[in-house]
Amino acid sequence: MSCLGVVIAPAIFDGCAGTKYFTAPIEGNDLINPLSSFEVLKDGKTEYRKYIVAENDTLQFPICVYRLDAQTYQALWMRCTHQGTELHVFGDRLQCPAHGSEFTNKGIVQNGPATDPLRTFAVSVSEATLKINLK
Ligand code: FES
Repeated sequence: MSCLGVVIAPAIFDGCAGTKYFTAPIEGNDLINPLSSFEVLKDGKTEYRKYIVAENDTLQFPICVYRLDAQTYQALWMRCTHQGTELHVFGDRLQCPAHGSEFTNKGIVQNGPATDPLRTFAVSVSEATLKINLK
């Protein structure tokens, strides 16, 4: 049985390591996120995650923030536009577990039944902070 645990554990960790969930505070109208939340230290080098998921207890759904390049970020409300199910993130895609809708990392519908794009938020970068405007 312990052998089974040894074999399975790395697979579980690999699966979880892909998505960084970050509890982000809200200041005024902005969800505040440190840019460092995208950083991963690997073999002494800084690499960057493609995306993180920002959460706050006062928000009904999390927000997926894609890092398109050092200055360009895309923030997407993780609520399916079909019937409101919370989306899952897989690489450059967000997928709906309810009926299979799929959205790109810019919120555009890739596969239905959803027909409307995801809600997006304005993002600004100021020094080491990413601000997601919730208005
Ligand atoms: S609620 Fe997402 S596809 Fe139906």
